[in-house]
Amino acid sequence: MTDLLVLTHSTLRYFILVFLLILLFRSFQGWQQKRAFTATDNKVSLWLFILTHSQLLIGLILYFISPLVIFDGASMKNAVTRYWLVEHISMMLIAVGLITLARTTSKKMTDAVAKHKRLFIFNLIAFVIILVAIAQMARVDSSRHFFSLPTL
Ligand code: HEM
Repeated sequence: MTDLLVLTHSTLRYFILVFLLILLFRSFQGWQQKRAFTATDNKVSLWLFILTHSQLLIGLILYFISPLVIFDGASMKNAVTRYWLVEHISMMLIAVGLITLARTTSKKMTDAVAKHKRLFIFNLIAFVIILVAIAQMARVDSSRHFFSLPTL
């Protein structure tokens, strides 16, 4: 069960990164070229929202069943256990929050350029936070790599 969830969580990261890149490209172009907000722009943002919320759900389950997360004060003194207890969840929750806010707040906007701009800025910050979190994971935990391939 845990292995399957880790595999799914690990795989979903690549889908999220690809959708983030597509959205960043489209929203930056839309913002700069003052382009209309199309149905495709909405679909990309919706899919990113669905993927990150699925990732959040799986992450929350893993947080309580993964052997890496040790609920103990001593975990804070070790870089690996501290990463899994507080750093991963904190950075990823901020990133998911920003992706959520980007979609929910831009949906209420009527101006297409303002929508593109909001989506670009919020998702860019989320993208950087996710990259930093994964880089930090690879740095502190020698059993993980930045571009690890999901295996069962
Ligand atoms: C966009 C959001 C997220 C991304 C991109 C992400 C990415 C990752 C990656 C790449 C791994 C390592 C998987 C591997 O080694 O194959 C991982 C593991 C893990 N993640 Fe996340 N994560 C996200 C959100 C979350 C959240 C919100 C939580 C907790 C609430 C969470 C909890 C965990 C846990 C506990 C593990 C360790 C699982 C294990 O190997 O036992 N993740 N995550």
